[in-house]
Amino acid sequence: MSRRVITFGTFDVFHVGHVNILERAKQEGDYLIVGVSSDKLNFSKKQRYPVYSESDRIKILKSLKFVDEVFVEESLELKADYIQQAKANVLVMGDDWMGKFDDMKKYCEVIYLPRTPSISTTEIIEVVKSL
Ligand code: CTP
Repeated sequence: MSRRVITFGTFDVFHVGHVNILERAKQEGDYLIVGVSSDKLNFSKKQRYPVYSESDRIKILKSLKFVDEVFVEESLELKADYIQQAKANVLVMGDDWMGKFDDMKKYCEVIYLPRTPSISTTEIIEVVKSL
């Protein structure tokens, strides 16, 4: 049976840490589904919109060879529904989320992968601001 992998994130100002986690997520199965958080959800969480619009972030993710499907994550409370709708067998998250998704073990396997060191969207924005 094919293993369907799901992961979630904002993936704003797309960088190599994003590439690495998606590449490794795909290696956990045969089919990779990415839930990209909506502009509205980001605004409600951080009081600012992402630098790249939701439609651009979706377009970038869809262009990657190891991403098979992309959908918009409208609410953080709906993880279980998204996992079940996607018929996912595995949830992959970066280890900055370690333990936070253990509740989802009711629905699928949960794997936390190590983050790529020394890079994040927040840090890139700070570096660019300081130039
Ligand atoms: N990620 C990673 N390594 C990094 C940065 C992100 O593995 N250096 C992973 C996160 O763990 C997450 C996914 O990429 O599973 C999407 O993360 P996101 O929050 O969109 O990216 P960040 O660069 O962490 O953004 P921010 O600084 O705004 O939190």
